[in-house]
Amino acid sequence: MMMFIVNTLIFSLFLTCSSGTLTKDFQHWLKKYDYSKDDFNRADLGHSGSYGGKKHSFDKIHHQPVIFIHGNSDTALFNESLGELASGWTNSIEYFLTKGYRPNELYATTWGDGNQLMALTRTHDCATLKRLRHFVEAVLSYTNATKIDIIAHSMGVTLGRKIISGGIVATSEEKCHLGESLHSKIDTFLGLSGANYGLCSCESLTNYPVCNKMNGFWPGDTCAKETELCSENDVSIPCQDKLQDKTIYAKYLMKLNKNTKPIANHVYSAWSIDDEVLSSPSSETSISTALIPKSTGHKIYSKLTHMQTKEQTAEDQYNMVVHHFI
Ligand SMILES: *[C@@H]1O[C@H](CO)[C@@H](O)[C@H](O)[C@H]1NC(C)=O
Ligand SMILES: *[C@@H]1O[C@H](CO)[C@@H](O)[C@H](O)[C@H]1NC(C)=O
Repeated sequence: MMMFIVNTLIFSLFLTCSSGTLTKDFQHWLKKYDYSKDDFNRADLGHSGSYGGKKHSFDKIHHQPVIFIHGNSDTALFNESLGELASGWTNSIEYFLTKGYRPNELYATTWGDGNQLMALTRTHDCATLKRLRHFVEAVLSYTNATKIDIIAHSMGVTLGRKIISGGIVATSEEKCHLGESLHSKIDTFLGLSGANYGLCSCESLTNYPVCNKMNGFWPGDTCAKETELCSENDVSIPCQDKLQDKTIYAKYLMKLNKNTKPIANHVYSAWSIDDEVLSSPSSETSISTALIPKSTGHKIYSKLTHMQTKEQTAEDQYNMVVHHFI
């Protein structure tokens, strides 16, 4: 009986900690500081729309806050009704909570609507970049943290890198300025399965916005050849340099990769050789498109799918962010 009560208590505690949306205190703060139009809470997505915040405004923050940025069609937290791409950061957040982090040190908001059927329409556009940049700025200011960590997955990696480096985003349709670099505020940036050099599967699909040559994932015209140049076992920097010098790919990505200023004190990249999204359909090698240039370290998994590199690596995420250990 006692055991049952204790279990129920622990279980309900856990639920209150890891179930979503921003706390009332953070919501009030966002309203006060004019962030209402960014709608970071995303109540339209129920409990999966967002996460984080203090319970009371006087609550202390003990850990460096972590911001999680999800990928295309995903949501801040798991949403069963949206399908398998909307697994969110639920596993990571639950793991960090078991390690002593509190909900006021872990932050996520949803970008996009979590609808998988719209995946091909999404790009690194000004509206998304500006809104996510505002989120990072808001968390920095709300927590009064001198530095934060960012963990990003898939398209969240290439959005996150730009949010930090700041500067201009220009496509044929729009132009915007994101502001100064935020690199001095970022301790660790962990990029899980990002398509930093584009996606081979986009090579012949440039009519889809997600694959476009300006701010999409167009990998250039010689993806299969390039993947051989930089095979899964050859992720050294000379190989990256070879890619950088020779290849023309999406302008947004080229600009990001040519920017030699570091985006954080520690930059880690991690991916799986069995990733079905990053692999090239022709050569079946998952290339180092997931290797962020000038990474401090990287980790290569096998037997993990694209989504599993986020869902099943919480312990590694924790070790990289907290201990800078890979
Ligand atoms: C999942 O998303 C839908 C909107 O698409 C929302 O109505 C629902 O509440 C969400 N489910 C959960 C468990 O948050
Ligand atoms: C915010 O942090 C600075 C130092 O980083 C400190 O001087 C200040 O008192 C803090 N403010 C609050 C409200 O905690």
